[in-house]
Amino acid sequence: MATSSAVNENPAPLGKDMEEWDEFLGGRYKEGKSETEFRQYDEKVTPGVAEFYRQNHKHQTFDYVITKEKEYFGLKKGEKSVWEAAEFLNTLVDDSDPDTDLTQIEHLLQTSEAIRRDGHPRWFVLTGFIHDLGKVLCLYGEPQWGVVGDTFPVGCAYSDKIVFPEYFEANPDLNHPVYSTKYGIYEPNCGLDSVHMSFGHDGYIYEVMKPYLPEPALAMLRYHSFYSWHRHGAYRHLMNGHDEEMLEWVNKFNPYDLYSKGHTKPNLAELKPYYDDLFAEFLPAKVAW
Ligand SMILES: [Fe+2]
Ligand SMILES: [Fe+2]
Repeated sequence: MATSSAVNENPAPLGKDMEEWDEFLGGRYKEGKSETEFRQYDEKVTPGVAEFYRQNHKHQTFDYVITKEKEYFGLKKGEKSVWEAAEFLNTLVDDSDPDTDLTQIEHLLQTSEAIRRDGHPRWFVLTGFIHDLGKVLCLYGEPQWGVVGDTFPVGCAYSDKIVFPEYFEANPDLNHPVYSTKYGIYEPNCGLDSVHMSFGHDGYIYEVMKPYLPEPALAMLRYHSFYSWHRHGAYRHLMNGHDEEMLEWVNKFNPYDLYSKGHTKPNLAELKPYYDDLFAEFLPAKVAW
């Protein structure tokens, strides 16, 4: 049962829910599972992850999303280079062992290096490095359920393909006359660009990078946690032709997000010159956050 809790309740140490969520996803999408196997996997979830999703599904309402978009999408948090943003994210600590665990920058490099090894275009490698930089939202004081977690459209009915759909029972939009309907505030096949997504690190990094990167990169950023869409085929009724194309790119990116994390430490000093050039090719020295 959902326990009552305030929106800003965030008992987990900074970064802890993030790591747990990543591990949960990695396991959930390990190999071609059937829907029954997904449910069996979800039933064995740790209490921490269950509580995380309970909070996420309860609080990600249309009004919450609009409030957060107003707060962050104007990019008024200052200018930072990509390295500075990555260093900032590195200050996010959890209670794990600093001697054996990888830093956030090392995680980012594992993703981008796996993409680079497979010979993908340079913008794709860049996207791998930056895709989780939006997690700096945690350092602005956002609760972890509002930074990570599967994302989904708000302002229309929540799909039962979203993980733990039963937790939406605590979400007030479930009884809203418009937001609870199939199309909600949207038109059929309006395109995902005009859809408000639950608030989190994906939408934020998309806004930051919008002026600089090609469309497929932006789709990878905005939709990488939209599992009900890219893995379970939900929300096709809101898609347009452009989204069909973008879905292929998002699916190309997803395995790198899920499976590139290992335990070998990337050599930052060795890799830095390559990434300096890569950032300079696409981005100004500082970008607005
Ligand atoms: Fe992410
Ligand atoms: Fe990621």
